[in-house]
Amino acid sequence: MDGNGRWAAARGLPRTAGHSEGEENIARLVRVAVRRDIGWLTLFGFSTENWVRPRTEVRHILGLHEKLFGRLAELNELGVRVQWIGRPFDAPDARTPRYVQRAIRKAIAATSHNTGMVLTIAFDYGGRRELCDAVAGVRARGLPMTPEDISSQLYLPELPPVDVLVRTSGERRVSNFLLWQSAGAAIRFTDCPWPEFDEHELDRALELVT
Ligand code: IPE
Ligand code: MG
Repeated sequence: MDGNGRWAAARGLPRTAGHSEGEENIARLVRVAVRRDIGWLTLFGFSTENWVRPRTEVRHILGLHEKLFGRLAELNELGVRVQWIGRPFDAPDARTPRYVQRAIRKAIAATSHNTGMVLTIAFDYGGRRELCDAVAGVRARGLPMTPEDISSQLYLPELPPVDVLVRTSGERRVSNFLLWQSAGAAIRFTDCPWPEFDEHELDRALELVT
Protein backbone atom coordinates (compact mmCIF):
# COMPACT_ATOMS: atom_id res chain seq x y z
CA MET A 1 0.00 0.00 0.00
CA ASP A 2 2.49 2.58 -1.20
CA GLY A 3 2.05 6.29 -1.71
CA ASN A 4 0.42 7.52 1.49
CA GLY A 5 3.18 10.06 2.08
CA ARG A 6 3.16 11.36 -1.49
CA TRP A 7 -0.64 11.57 -1.47
CA ALA A 8 -0.44 13.77 1.64
CA ALA A 9 2.47 15.89 0.37
CA ALA A 10 0.58 16.66 -2.83
CA ARG A 11 -2.15 18.16 -0.65
CA GLY A 12 0.16 20.05 1.66
CA LEU A 13 -0.71 17.64 4.48
CA PRO A 14 1.62 15.85 6.92
CA ARG A 15 2.58 12.27 6.03
CA THR A 16 0.54 11.05 9.00
CA ALA A 17 -2.63 12.37 7.32
CA GLY A 18 -1.77 10.21 4.31
CA HIS A 19 -1.46 7.14 6.51
CA SER A 20 -4.80 7.92 8.17
CA GLU A 21 -6.48 8.22 4.77
CA GLY A 22 -4.73 5.01 3.72
CA GLU A 23 -6.29 3.21 6.68
CA GLU A 24 -9.73 4.56 5.78
CA ASN A 25 -9.16 3.28 2.28
CA ILE A 26 -8.45 -0.21 3.58
CA ALA A 27 -11.93 -0.22 5.13
CA ARG A 28 -13.43 0.97 1.83
CA LEU A 29 -11.50 -1.46 -0.33
CA VAL A 30 -12.25 -4.47 1.88
CA ARG A 31 -15.93 -3.79 1.29
CA VAL A 32 -15.37 -3.67 -2.49
CA ALA A 33 -13.26 -6.83 -2.43
CA VAL A 34 -16.00 -8.70 -0.60
CA ARG A 35 -18.52 -7.50 -3.18
CA ARG A 36 -16.22 -8.82 -5.94
CA ASP A 37 -16.17 -12.19 -4.23
CA ILE A 38 -12.42 -12.20 -3.70
CA GLY A 39 -11.38 -15.15 -1.53
CA TRP A 40 -8.08 -13.90 -0.23
CA LEU A 41 -6.81 -10.34 0.11
CA THR A 42 -3.40 -9.68 1.60
CA LEU A 43 -2.26 -6.13 2.35
CA PHE A 44 1.30 -5.02 3.11
CA GLY A 45 0.78 -2.69 6.07
CA PHE A 46 4.23 -2.36 7.62
CA SER A 47 7.54 -3.99 6.76
CA THR A 48 10.43 -5.16 8.90
CA GLU A 49 12.37 -2.29 7.24
CA ASN A 50 9.83 0.41 8.13
CA TRP A 51 10.93 0.71 11.79
CA VAL A 52 13.69 3.14 10.79
CA ARG A 53 11.13 5.82 9.93
CA PRO A 54 10.79 8.81 12.30
CA ARG A 55 9.39 7.76 15.67
CA THR A 56 6.30 9.91 15.43
CA GLU A 57 5.42 8.44 12.05
CA VAL A 58 5.96 4.88 13.29
CA ARG A 59 3.81 5.58 16.35
CA HIS A 60 1.05 6.94 14.13
CA ILE A 61 1.18 3.89 11.86
CA LEU A 62 1.08 1.58 14.90
CA GLY A 63 -2.04 3.36 16.14
CA LEU A 64 -3.64 2.94 12.73
CA HIS A 65 -3.02 -0.79 12.83
CA GLU A 66 -4.64 -0.92 16.26
CA LYS A 67 -7.61 0.87 14.69
CA LEU A 68 -7.67 -1.40 11.64
CA PHE A 69 -7.58 -4.62 13.66
CA GLY A 70 -10.22 -3.09 15.90
CA ARG A 71 -12.85 -2.75 13.15
CA LEU A 72 -14.50 -5.92 14.41
CA ALA A 73 -18.15 -4.97 13.84
CA GLU A 74 -17.47 -4.08 10.18
CA LEU A 75 -15.36 -7.18 9.56
CA ASN A 76 -17.93 -9.48 11.13
CA GLU A 77 -20.76 -7.82 9.25
CA LEU A 78 -18.86 -8.59 6.02
CA GLY A 79 -18.01 -12.14 7.10
CA VAL A 80 -14.30 -11.41 6.81
CA ARG A 81 -11.78 -13.62 8.60
CA VAL A 82 -8.69 -11.69 9.69
CA GLN A 83 -5.18 -13.09 9.68
CA TRP A 84 -1.82 -11.55 10.35
CA ILE A 85 1.48 -12.36 8.68
CA GLY A 86 4.78 -11.15 10.05
CA ARG A 87 7.84 -11.78 12.17
CA PRO A 88 6.78 -13.78 15.24
CA PHE A 89 6.14 -11.58 18.28
CA ASP A 90 8.60 -13.66 20.33
CA ALA A 91 11.49 -13.32 17.84
CA PRO A 92 14.57 -11.83 19.55
CA ASP A 93 14.46 -8.77 17.30
CA ALA A 94 10.66 -8.34 17.18
CA ARG A 95 9.47 -4.83 18.04
CA THR A 96 5.69 -4.94 17.89
CA PRO A 97 4.33 -3.26 21.02
CA ARG A 98 1.96 -5.19 23.25
CA TYR A 99 -1.10 -3.08 22.42
CA VAL A 100 -0.73 -3.89 18.73
CA GLN A 101 -0.13 -7.57 19.50
CA ARG A 102 -3.32 -7.56 21.57
CA ALA A 103 -5.36 -5.91 18.80
CA ILE A 104 -4.08 -8.46 16.29
CA ARG A 105 -4.83 -11.46 18.53
CA LYS A 106 -8.26 -10.11 19.35
CA ALA A 107 -9.18 -9.55 15.69
CA ILE A 108 -8.06 -13.05 14.71
CA ALA A 109 -10.09 -14.62 17.54
CA ALA A 110 -13.17 -12.43 17.02
CA THR A 111 -13.39 -13.20 13.28
CA SER A 112 -12.19 -16.82 13.28
CA HIS A 113 -15.72 -18.16 12.72
CA ASN A 114 -16.25 -16.10 9.54
CA THR A 115 -16.34 -18.01 6.26
CA GLY A 116 -16.08 -15.16 3.77
CA MET A 117 -12.99 -13.39 2.46
CA VAL A 118 -9.74 -13.96 4.30
CA LEU A 119 -8.05 -10.62 4.94
CA THR A 120 -4.41 -10.99 5.81
CA ILE A 121 -2.53 -7.97 7.10
CA ALA A 122 1.24 -8.08 6.75
CA PHE A 123 2.65 -6.21 9.73
CA ASP A 124 6.35 -6.29 10.64
CA TYR A 125 6.64 -8.51 7.61
CA GLY A 126 9.58 -9.16 5.32
CA GLY A 127 9.59 -11.79 2.58
CA ARG A 128 13.27 -12.61 2.92
CA ARG A 129 12.97 -12.92 6.66
CA GLU A 130 9.99 -15.24 6.27
CA LEU A 131 12.07 -17.46 3.99
CA CYS A 132 14.98 -17.51 6.45
CA ASP A 133 12.59 -18.48 9.24
CA ALA A 134 11.02 -21.17 7.05
CA VAL A 135 14.43 -22.63 6.19
CA ALA A 136 15.30 -22.65 9.90
CA GLY A 137 12.01 -24.47 10.56
CA VAL A 138 12.78 -27.08 7.90
CA ARG A 139 16.24 -27.64 9.41
CA ALA A 140 14.93 -27.85 12.97
CA ARG A 141 12.51 -30.58 11.89
CA GLY A 142 15.17 -32.46 9.94
CA LEU A 143 13.11 -32.27 6.74
CA PRO A 144 14.80 -32.72 3.31
CA MET A 145 14.33 -29.05 2.15
CA THR A 146 11.99 -29.60 -0.76
CA PRO A 147 9.77 -26.72 -1.95
CA GLU A 148 6.88 -28.43 -0.15
CA ASP A 149 8.91 -28.52 3.07
CA ILE A 150 9.64 -24.80 2.82
CA SER A 151 5.99 -24.03 2.02
CA SER A 152 4.99 -25.96 5.14
CA GLN A 153 7.20 -23.75 7.34
CA LEU A 154 6.04 -20.35 6.07
CA TYR A 155 4.28 -18.06 8.56
CA LEU A 156 0.86 -18.93 7.08
CA PRO A 157 1.25 -22.19 5.16
CA GLU A 158 -2.45 -22.10 4.19
CA LEU A 159 -2.06 -18.82 2.29
CA PRO A 160 -2.65 -19.73 -1.38
CA PRO A 161 -0.24 -18.67 -4.15
CA VAL A 162 -0.69 -15.03 -5.20
CA ASP A 163 -2.79 -14.63 -8.36
CA VAL A 164 -2.24 -10.93 -8.84
CA LEU A 165 0.20 -8.63 -7.11
CA VAL A 166 -0.59 -4.93 -7.13
CA ARG A 167 1.98 -2.17 -6.70
CA THR A 168 0.59 1.29 -6.16
CA SER A 169 2.01 4.77 -6.53
CA GLY A 170 4.16 4.28 -9.60
CA GLU A 171 6.67 1.81 -8.12
CA ARG A 172 7.61 -0.46 -10.99
CA ARG A 173 9.58 -3.05 -9.10
CA VAL A 174 9.00 -5.99 -6.80
CA SER A 175 9.13 -5.33 -3.06
CA ASN A 176 9.94 -7.64 -0.13
CA PHE A 177 6.37 -8.93 -0.14
CA LEU A 178 5.34 -12.62 -0.25
CA LEU A 179 8.39 -13.51 -2.32
CA TRP A 180 7.83 -17.27 -2.20
CA GLN A 181 4.06 -17.05 -2.60
CA SER A 182 4.26 -14.65 -5.58
CA ALA A 183 6.07 -17.01 -7.96
CA GLY A 184 4.01 -16.92 -11.14
CA ALA A 185 1.79 -14.02 -10.04
CA ALA A 186 0.48 -11.47 -12.51
CA ILE A 187 1.61 -7.94 -11.61
CA ARG A 188 -0.43 -4.78 -11.88
CA PHE A 189 1.55 -1.56 -11.66
CA THR A 190 -0.48 1.56 -11.14
CA ASP A 191 0.40 5.20 -10.58
CA CYS A 192 -2.54 5.50 -8.20
CA PRO A 193 -1.42 6.24 -4.62
CA TRP A 194 -2.88 3.87 -2.02
CA PRO A 195 -5.39 6.35 -0.48
CA GLU A 196 -7.08 6.64 -3.90
CA PHE A 197 -6.96 2.96 -4.83
CA ASP A 198 -10.64 2.32 -5.48
CA GLU A 199 -13.12 -0.05 -7.07
CA HIS A 200 -12.03 0.87 -10.59
CA GLU A 201 -8.38 0.22 -9.72
CA LEU A 202 -9.23 -3.12 -8.17
CA ASP A 203 -11.15 -4.14 -11.29
CA ARG A 204 -8.16 -3.27 -13.48
CA ALA A 205 -6.06 -5.62 -11.34
CA LEU A 206 -8.69 -8.37 -11.46
CA GLU A 207 -8.74 -8.19 -15.26
CA LEU A 208 -5.31 -9.81 -15.17
CA VAL A 209 -6.66 -12.98 -13.59
CA THR A 210 -10.18 -13.39 -14.96
C1 IPE B 1 2.95 3.45 2.52
O1 IPE B 1 3.08 4.80 2.21
C2 IPE B 1 2.73 3.20 3.99
C3 IPE B 1 3.80 2.45 4.67
C4 IPE B 1 4.86 1.98 4.09
C5 IPE B 1 3.64 2.23 6.10
P1 IPE B 1 4.50 5.51 2.23
O2 IPE B 1 4.69 6.09 3.60
O3 IPE B 1 5.56 4.59 1.78
O4 IPE B 1 4.26 6.67 1.20
P2 IPE B 1 5.34 7.34 0.21
O5 IPE B 1 6.05 6.22 -0.49
O6 IPE B 1 6.26 8.15 1.05
O7 IPE B 1 4.49 8.15 -0.69
MG1 MG C 1 6.71 4.37 0.08
